[in-house]
Amino acid sequence: MCGIVGGVSKNNNIVPILINGLEKLEYRGYDSAGIAIINHNRIQRIRSVGRVSNIHKKISQKNLKGKTGIGHTRWATHGGVLEKNAHPHISNNEIVVVHNGIIENHAKLCDFLKNKNYIFKSETDTEVIAHLIHYFRKNKPSLLEAVHKTCKKLEGAYAIAVSNKNSNEIIVARNGCPLIIGVSEDQNFIASDISALISVTNNVIFLEDGDIAVIASDSYKIFDDNLNQINRKIYKSSVKENQMELGPYDHYMQKEIYEQPIAIADTIESIIDEGSINPKLIGGLKFDASKYESILILAAGTSYYAGLTAKYWFEHLAKVPVNVEIASEYRYRDAVTPKKQLIITISQSGETLDTLEALKQAKKNGNKNSLTICNVQESAIVRQSDYVFYTRAGVEIGVASTKAFTTQLVCLFVLSLIFAKQRKKITKKNELAYIEELRKLSGHIQTALNLEPQIKAWAKKFSRKSNALFLGRGIHYPIALEGALKLKEISYIHAEAYPAGELKHGPLALVDKDLPVVVIAPNDKLLEKVKSNMQEVKARGGELFVIADADSQFDAEAGIHVIRTNRHVGILSPIVHAIPVQLLAYHVAISKKTDVDKPRNLAKSVTVE
Ligand code: G6P
Repeated sequence: MCGIVGGVSKNNNIVPILINGLEKLEYRGYDSAGIAIINHNRIQRIRSVGRVSNIHKKISQKNLKGKTGIGHTRWATHGGVLEKNAHPHISNNEIVVVHNGIIENHAKLCDFLKNKNYIFKSETDTEVIAHLIHYFRKNKPSLLEAVHKTCKKLEGAYAIAVSNKNSNEIIVARNGCPLIIGVSEDQNFIASDISALISVTNNVIFLEDGDIAVIASDSYKIFDDNLNQINRKIYKSSVKENQMELGPYDHYMQKEIYEQPIAIADTIESIIDEGSINPKLIGGLKFDASKYESILILAAGTSYYAGLTAKYWFEHLAKVPVNVEIASEYRYRDAVTPKKQLIITISQSGETLDTLEALKQAKKNGNKNSLTICNVQESAIVRQSDYVFYTRAGVEIGVASTKAFTTQLVCLFVLSLIFAKQRKKITKKNELAYIEELRKLSGHIQTALNLEPQIKAWAKKFSRKSNALFLGRGIHYPIALEGALKLKEISYIHAEAYPAGELKHGPLALVDKDLPVVVIAPNDKLLEKVKSNMQEVKARGGELFVIADADSQFDAEAGIHVIRTNRHVGILSPIVHAIPVQLLAYHVAISKKTDVDKPRNLAKSVTVE
């Protein structure tokens, strides 16, 4: 949700570093981009709607160079997608600001500043920050003090980077949105995340809420929100530049779909020690599942569907009651909190504001312990949680989540085994049998990936449709939900998912020859029920696209297309069946020529409400 990058170098031109950083951050927002360079007591700014490549062209034309600069990729919240709303924003040719987040009291601050004769040139909430800093500098305090005073007036979430026309420093502040410092020799950087900086450094400091920092080429100083200087640890990031490269693939989503066998194997091996699941490997902390009587899972988007799947595992294997709730709903509800409830948050980014705030609310509601399943080291949700179970998906760049989802499912399955083991609901023999099945999972995923040619053929039929229906039952219903979400996210086809048993209670009215109906139909105990639901569709002329197992025992016929994964893999089956629905969405998007990795109006990391 907007990406920030900036840097101050003693000897190097910062412009290529900013452009490279913005390209890496584009997944956070891609409706406009801009950079500002401080040069000979002047702010030079280039902005453009559209992709970073658009400002790249303008920079080459203007031969822009400099050693101090800030840049931004935007995901519009306040104000349309127009060049005047793109960041950086400037006040009186002196102060320049980029911002990620939302300033909730911007209207009030705007009135105040208009009374002081400030002229607003954009429709954004960000411009108040630039003018307010300018206003506080009038009495000649340092830029740091002016930023500090400004932050005290801001309500909402923000990460900001600020400079002024005769400075070779950048001031940054964070409250609720991520911001890191990248430390290097004779040059230091700031960014929304490490992906923007891996080409220049892997030494990073994660700023915390309330932190303000001054970045110069040869130093950085961090202060708390009373301007007392503080220390923060430097981490060595394990993210490698080649992880961000596309390699032989056409799109990041395609690459990430194909990385799933490896990502899943890495995630499983991170928690298995000498053939057995070792809970100590979760964040190195002693995790005792036997002290919890219930679980509440909080998440958003695809991560929420991972939670819905996990409910079946926890209840089936560990006999522990589980509720799964959309984070943005839980936050504003008078939730009744049972004693001894574990909160589990699921988030690939670890930044989703709705999930972070729901976690904070859960703590206020009296929940004492929380565990997060997350893909990003030291992210905000990780820092707010007692226990962390990292998915080992590697960097996920495609906006539509794929390998993060299946690795979340693996973590959740393992966690349900830990619960079952520590609550003495599973025998050693069964635990070992499940581990054995887990280890075979990557092979099953590979077989599912081999279905691509058949799915491509299906995709051609979908690309002419306006609507689609996904059906599943039991543990596969969340996979139907995920299939519908993937399809609408990247192909813009309206798609709904229903538990197949609900068909007759409403959606059956939609079924006609123009409605493709995707059915997740593995050979589990609900297969016969699903077959009856399929007949209900067929009888009304609907066209069925069935994702079955090798042993689901039904054949293709007129109006029924069938593809088959490997043999049925029991309760791990949702993880295998996630693959065909991802491939389907991908190939429909390709036939519709949409922007697969950066679908319109969306962003990968949503740090606003
Ligand atoms: C955005 C992304 C989705 C993601 C959701 C939750 O909407 O586009 O792919 O599932 O946020 O994100 P999280 O990082 O918390 O899993």
